[in-house]
Amino acid sequence: MEVKRILVVGAGLMGGGIAQVAAQNGYEVVLNDVSMELVERGLSNIEKNLDGQVKKEKMSAEEKEQTLARISKSVDLADGGQVDFVIEAAFENYEVKKEIFQKLDQICRPEVILASNTSSIPINSLASVTKRPDRFIGMHFFSPVPVMRLVEVIRALKTSEETTRITEEIAHRMKKETVRVKDVPGFLVNRVNAAFRAECYQCLLEGVASLEDIDKAIKLGLNHPMGPFELADFVGLEIGLNVFRTLYEGYKDPKFKPPLLLEKMVQCGDLGRKTGKGWYDYTSGEKKPRTDINL
Ligand SMILES: NC(=O)c1ccc[n+]([C@@H]2O[C@H](COP(=O)([O-])OP(=O)(O)OC[C@H]3O[C@@H](n4cnc5c(N)ncnc54)[C@H](O)[C@@H]3O)[C@@H](O)[C@H]2O)c1
Repeated sequence: MEVKRILVVGAGLMGGGIAQVAAQNGYEVVLNDVSMELVERGLSNIEKNLDGQVKKEKMSAEEKEQTLARISKSVDLADGGQVDFVIEAAFENYEVKKEIFQKLDQICRPEVILASNTSSIPINSLASVTKRPDRFIGMHFFSPVPVMRLVEVIRALKTSEETTRITEEIAHRMKKETVRVKDVPGFLVNRVNAAFRAECYQCLLEGVASLEDIDKAIKLGLNHPMGPFELADFVGLEIGLNVFRTLYEGYKDPKFKPPLLLEKMVQCGDLGRKTGKGWYDYTSGEKKPRTDINL
């Protein structure tokens, strides 16, 4: 079966990015969310991103229009009856995803593969709510989707080789690189990254270096584009904390124990850039060291 049309469920940060790269690389995309307002918001973000590419001369105005013309809007999962492949990027909530997949399992043709972009919900537990666990897979993109080149292809216990191969082909056509990963907590990248971040928090707790110097050292010494604390502020501290919680629950390994300092910051409501304060202070419009907390 040739995959021509893809349903993307969820038009938020990830779903919008996935829809954009799929459409940019020739797929017909059906972009679905719970309301037309949310679908349109997703589409207008895509348009802004494409405008940026046109400005940088990475894409012509004509290509932009062609890309947008390949995306159609949907507020009804019944539209899944017309597609060849599904990528789900709705809220990170088991009940929400379970309902979506149970519906899609009824709606989509039997040969259609269902993929989830979940970061922390076991693919096995989502596959098991459908009658097609062999055609169920994890497709874990990274944010921002148009920029980040990796997709972790998560094979659950019953995912077939053909499902894996088709999913990889789709990711490659979207100009992404793939790695095959087992369905374990945190998959590969988030698991390794959490262990690294835990060590950074431990160094801060022990006073090995200041927070600013840890960020500087990791950027200049390891060539990371952002230090761990800057990145945590960018992503949102509560999201980082949830990753630790999932991994600690999954492995019961003390190295994933949520760092106390991070717990305290989240308790204070200092969640990073979006609240104006996190590991740094952004209230002046610039990133400044914090002078108002006792670490
Ligand atoms: N943000 C990241 O860095 C990142 C990275 C990798 C994977 N993920 C995963 O991607 C998924 C989406 O994350 P996000 O950051 O884009 O979230 P988001 O909140 O920006 O977007 C989620 C969208 O899903 C929509 N939605 C909720 N329920 C729905 C339903 N029943 N039907 C259709 N649409 C529905 C919401 O209205 C929202 O627009 C999550 O599973 C998340 O764990 C996120």
